[in-house]
Amino acid sequence: MLTKKMENALNGQVRVEAESSQVYLSMASWAEVKGLEGISLFMYRHSDEERMHMLKLIKYINERGGHAQITALQAPKKAFTSFQKMFQQLYDHEIEVSKCINELVHVSLEEKDYATHNFLQWYVAEQIEEEALARTILDKINLIGNDKGGLYLFDRDVQRITVDSSASQNEA
Ligand code: FEO
Repeated sequence: MLTKKMENALNGQVRVEAESSQVYLSMASWAEVKGLEGISLFMYRHSDEERMHMLKLIKYINERGGHAQITALQAPKKAFTSFQKMFQQLYDHEIEVSKCINELVHVSLEEKDYATHNFLQWYVAEQIEEEALARTILDKINLIGNDKGGLYLFDRDVQRITVDSSASQNEA
């Protein structure tokens, strides 16, 4: 059974993951309209992943005697100055999500809820991967600068990064 404090904290994370999914969905749509097909596919899949993170939390809360709350969400940005800035925002967003996960882990220890502590380790590992992935992408972006040929290759590459990342998840 979850304590009320733990339940509320987990419900806060349901919202964070739901909003993350919307943020990346908005990025996907913007990239699609701009003709950045690979980037758009990457963002659509990332949005799906965030929804999966949210669902995993919902199932856990309900399984432990709580009630997962589905709430109104903050609307994401609709437009982005450039794809470079968009990926910087993705990175910054993931850093914020990692802070939220760390805070949740902290609450689980305060509440002496070791089952939830154990459950959250999956998210801790996931955030390490997500931050590393975002950093790799930013490094690639820095390398290409304003080169059009580089952008073409990046758009093609980033699509493959997505596939590789989900393939390694399936193996895990
Ligand atoms: Fe679910 Fe990208 O954190």
